[in-house]
Amino acid sequence: PSSQSHQPANRDNDRDPSRLRSSRWFGPDDMRSFGHRSRLKAMGFDDVDYQDRPVVAILNTWSELNTCHSHFRERSDSVRRGILQSGGFPVEVPVMSLGEMMMKPTTMLYRNLLAMEVEEVLRCHPIDAAVLMGGCDKTVPAMLMGAISADIPSVFFPAGPMLKGLWKTETLGSGSDVWKYWDERMAGNLCDADWKCIENCIARSAGTCMTMGTASTMACVAEAMGMTLPGAACIPAVMADHQRLAVQTGRTAVEMAWANRKPSDVLNQQSVENGVKASLAIGGSTNAIVHLIAIAGRLGVSLTLDDFDSFSRTTPVLADIRPGGQFLMEDFYEAGGLPALLSQMTDLLHTDCKTITGGTLADQIQDQEVINDQVIRSRDNPVSDIGGTCVLKGNLAPSGCVIKSIAADPKLLHHRGPALVFDNYPEMKAKLHDEDLQVDENSVLVLRSAGPLGAPGFPEWGMLPLPKKLLQKGVRDMVRISDARMSGTSYGTCVLHIAPESAVGGPLAWIETGDMIEINVQQRTIHWDISDEERQRRQAAKPVNPPVPSRGYGQLYAKHVTQADQGCDFDFLVGRSPGLEPGIH
Ligand code: FES
Ligand code: MG
Repeated sequence: PSSQSHQPANRDNDRDPSRLRSSRWFGPDDMRSFGHRSRLKAMGFDDVDYQDRPVVAILNTWSELNTCHSHFRERSDSVRRGILQSGGFPVEVPVMSLGEMMMKPTTMLYRNLLAMEVEEVLRCHPIDAAVLMGGCDKTVPAMLMGAISADIPSVFFPAGPMLKGLWKTETLGSGSDVWKYWDERMAGNLCDADWKCIENCIARSAGTCMTMGTASTMACVAEAMGMTLPGAACIPAVMADHQRLAVQTGRTAVEMAWANRKPSDVLNQQSVENGVKASLAIGGSTNAIVHLIAIAGRLGVSLTLDDFDSFSRTTPVLADIRPGGQFLMEDFYEAGGLPALLSQMTDLLHTDCKTITGGTLADQIQDQEVINDQVIRSRDNPVSDIGGTCVLKGNLAPSGCVIKSIAADPKLLHHRGPALVFDNYPEMKAKLHDEDLQVDENSVLVLRSAGPLGAPGFPEWGMLPLPKKLLQKGVRDMVRISDARMSGTSYGTCVLHIAPESAVGGPLAWIETGDMIEINVQQRTIHWDISDEERQRRQAAKPVNPPVPSRGYGQLYAKHVTQADQGCDFDFLVGRSPGLEPGIH
């Protein structure tokens, strides 16, 4: 499959250069505009290079510390070629890169910082349209959130997944197979040489994780919401098709500038719902919930955990991709990719939603063929009848929490057991593998101080490792509960995003080892056996205070980040932006 070509705008009606935003910088006969023009001359541009043409920014999250975007330097050249072909003036603008593999404590701490940067970079410059080059997990929601708030014509260009990992004859999925083989190593089943081999061959190319992690989930969400070219989300990063997509994306951005087709013309309540349903049908990452709520917040659209759960009850999982299934993104692409999957569920989607091409979602998915129905299942043979992620509520999570039920051991989806509580991540790390630890496979591992404020930054600690002594006994899943997130590549019976988190006085703050906990995913409940009196006693004995850094971005974050069920955006960024132009200069 390959992306469709763009539809050229109607030249006669639409191409009035004086309507371009950038003409307010370059057009007037005044001293400031003289300055703008003369400094473009300093860069070697003539009037014909930029005058009467849309300025199209390539917002590039390339960085040598973002391993997933290592092809973005060359790919931006392809985008540039498309912009030039369609008569635009390309300008490449670097923005902060959030690479999952290298950033500590977690990229999630910086999602809102990148969103703010994208918004302000778009607002303050002479930019008529933008190509948003992102891919690695948080870069996708961050760039979409920024573009929504700036409300300048923007098309998302996903980095694309890596090639499949390959070890001997076995395909390896990034993240998922790291956890799997680490457990085997801890259990004494994997030698050092094999472990080294896996290190050498699990990540074989540029691109994002090739499991259905957060990167691919959010790329599919962006496509389903109409913010990419059709078919963009699944094209492997190193394929020629991905280069062609880059050129087409550049051409499309020019047309979008002339048409002034802004995020607010594409995104609304219905398109957000399409994004939610796509994320469920692909068996996507739990992180999509947090990001989609934040995206909806920027649009002034309501999306709650309850909405998410009700869509989950009616949306089947059709993509059989790890960690919830068997295959990898390359297989998904070859099976027809997201357009083919969406074509199987048109009755569940708002297909009249607009996309960045000016057409509708229906145009993007009509006539799509499922090439391999093992990978993209038919409606009468789904991976699961209902969505892969469920929302639980109860006295341990009054504002809700989530579990990726398709990636859990079905036997544990209804479970009652005694809590083994760790106050924080370092304590968990120090004690978990202790031979004398009082734990068995019925225990419920609990981690607190791991939420948006407690950690801080809402890290991916929610797939707590299993105690070594249980791994050696053959145990491979247990119920784990935390106010953390987990990687989209993770799996296991992990209850995540407990809200409110412990650091702000959520009930998780007062649970103790030995307390009984029950989860029932079918009933959507999570229950902690405790009397009101006992709970009040513990609360009075141990008041909580969220940590607030003394300065800098960390302080801004701590003062303004919202809880998981609210999307973890900054409170002052939520809601539609008036799209203010910079003042007179
Ligand atoms: Fe970048 Fe997984 S580390 S997408
Ligand atoms: Mg990830």
